[in-house]
Amino acid sequence: MNVTQTDQQINTRLAHDHLLGLEGYSSEEIELVLSTARRFREVLYRPIRKVPTLRGITVVNLFFEASTRTRISFELAEKRLSADTVNFSTSGSSVLKGETLKDTVQNIEAMKIDMVVVRHRSPGAAHFLTQCVSSTIINAGDGAHEHPTQALLDLLTISDRFGYVEGLNVTIIGDIMHSRVARSNIHGLTTLGANITLCGPPSLLPVEVESLTDRDNVHVTSNLDEALEGCDVAMALRIQLERQGSNRLPSLREYHEQFGIKMSNMNQHKDLVIMHPGPVNRGVELASEVVDHERAVILDQVTNGVAVRMAILFLLSGHADVDQT
Ligand code: CP
Repeated sequence: MNVTQTDQQINTRLAHDHLLGLEGYSSEEIELVLSTARRFREVLYRPIRKVPTLRGITVVNLFFEASTRTRISFELAEKRLSADTVNFSTSGSSVLKGETLKDTVQNIEAMKIDMVVVRHRSPGAAHFLTQCVSSTIINAGDGAHEHPTQALLDLLTISDRFGYVEGLNVTIIGDIMHSRVARSNIHGLTTLGANITLCGPPSLLPVEVESLTDRDNVHVTSNLDEALEGCDVAMALRIQLERQGSNRLPSLREYHEQFGIKMSNMNQHKDLVIMHPGPVNRGVELASEVVDHERAVILDQVTNGVAVRMAILFLLSGHADVDQT
């Protein structure tokens, strides 16, 4: 398949102008992103990993929080698509002199840009930017709210591993309360028909956990053995020490004993697939041998992250309707 064929075949548009979260994205929209990502993923395995699809589009990556995977994979996705990219991080910027988020983004937009990728510690920051500027906004993680491209790359990884998502049993383990990854995955997985079990210490399960989704295929437990029974995919979440307002964990050692996935779990559940959004605290969420296990697909998730971000940038760029022959 060449690039021209790729662009001609991908001619359906998302109903949304921005990607602020997966809440409200339909199964058709999610499937469109996944099928588009599969086509763009092929570009990553070419000798020259670059196509002209977003030539002329300028994307600014605004990262107000630390990131390795999301920041680099957005930048790589933009470069693979031939977009012009500019990277912003708080350090070295006028945010340190007190400039607000609104003023920062409006000044950057005044330099003539098309799309903004934003990561910020405040829930709702991405939505706020849609009120400030006319650029397309993509949420790269806003506080404990959503991390939609992480969930999309997780869905792509699951869908490719099993060939389907509907009916799979997915257990999300750990710090559900502080996890934007959990929120986005709950929306995405339930929209595609998966059954979800949320498992974690009671102190890290939000009180509104049952209402995170209106659907009835979400189950909650604090018993890891129960959560892994009949489970197809275990998605371990990072313990976010930086977001713990109060001491909600007895100790990391005790957390690992109760909620960490160990080799004994892998041996007991012979088909269990392990996922983690990263960065992994080895020996806490996952035993180190589990991180490196052949049924851990953590690095597949990272590769899929580039493809999913290429797909989202393309579908939201307004170029999806353009015949580039
Ligand atoms: N999964 C994820 O968001 O990782 P980073 O914080 O490194 O971007």
